[in-house]
Amino acid sequence: TSEAKNDQQPILRPESDIPSQYIWPDHEKPCFDAPELEVPTIDMTVLSSGDPLAISKAAELVNEVCKKHGLFTVSNHGVDSGLLRRAVEHMNFFFGLKVSDKKKAKGEISYGYENSIASRFSSKLPWVESLAFRYCPDVQDIVVDYLVNVFGEDMRQFGRVYQEYCEAMEKLSLRIMELIGISLGLEQAYLRDFFQENDSILRMNYYRPCKNPDLTFGVGPHSDTPCLTILHQDMVGGLQVLTDEKWHSVTPIPGTLIVNIGDTFMALSNGIYKSCLHRAVVNNQTVRKSLVFFLSPKMDKPVIVKIHSVSFTISDCWEPDGRGVVWNKKNSSFRSNSTSIPTKLL
Ligand code: SIN
Ligand code: FE2
Repeated sequence: TSEAKNDQQPILRPESDIPSQYIWPDHEKPCFDAPELEVPTIDMTVLSSGDPLAISKAAELVNEVCKKHGLFTVSNHGVDSGLLRRAVEHMNFFFGLKVSDKKKAKGEISYGYENSIASRFSSKLPWVESLAFRYCPDVQDIVVDYLVNVFGEDMRQFGRVYQEYCEAMEKLSLRIMELIGISLGLEQAYLRDFFQENDSILRMNYYRPCKNPDLTFGVGPHSDTPCLTILHQDMVGGLQVLTDEKWHSVTPIPGTLIVNIGDTFMALSNGIYKSCLHRAVVNNQTVRKSLVFFLSPKMDKPVIVKIHSVSFTISDCWEPDGRGVVWNKKNSSFRSNSTSIPTKLL
């Protein structure tokens, strides 16, 4: 029956040859011998140490990499290691459900379940299944309620894990914003206050093994639309970053999280900090899992970018398909059609 057919894992079958819609053109094929990206690891306890020298040294490192490629890692980040482990483990529960059940989380722009049916970044399909939903600090239990509403009471426990995970990530992202603020010469509290009210997103990516990993991508080359991304990946590896016109791999380091700048923050910083261009490769051996928290200001947040004398609200940064537009990469300019009264950001 069509229902039974629907319940099979449709295309992402580790054992069969890869369908043509997943085969990327020759000039875009992945590489597996990418050199290691050299990134600083920022010890987050430095911020609370009160040691001005250590703080300015960390801020300098952040400034340097954010101008270059927009990615660094953080250690001693204060997120409970048990929570991080549970968040990765519980993904098995969701992605192990029947396809017809997973599809109950209908995709709305950037939210919901996707199993490669629609590609966000390219004409070719990515070898990944994902689930994404909103996190908003002023709506209590937003994650639990969403998951229970969509999937039923059985998902309450699952929902609690990701509620707690989002709360921890939000807290960390605001601390990282303090450091980024210092690195841009702002008051420590400036960006924290700016992002205190936020409308963020959690996306979980589940990459099944693929028989032909050299022909496809888990996620094709892209930059993230929101402001700041915190990536928690398992130990499998697969993330690559473009810098100095070459792809570099970012090998997982236990106990650290990856932080990268997104398009909207590139716009907010007058283009000084680079939105990180990245992609993920798959392998033929094992499932890879990653959790991505995107910090995003509220859509109606007004902003002015001083150097270019343009004003816009955050919602102007987003196309209906969820892609950012305010920073035009082609001609390094801003485009805005907002007439709202702006607040100065930088
Ligand atoms: C992403 O950029 O969407 C995911 C990256 C990763 O899984 O490493
Ligand atoms: Fe990404």
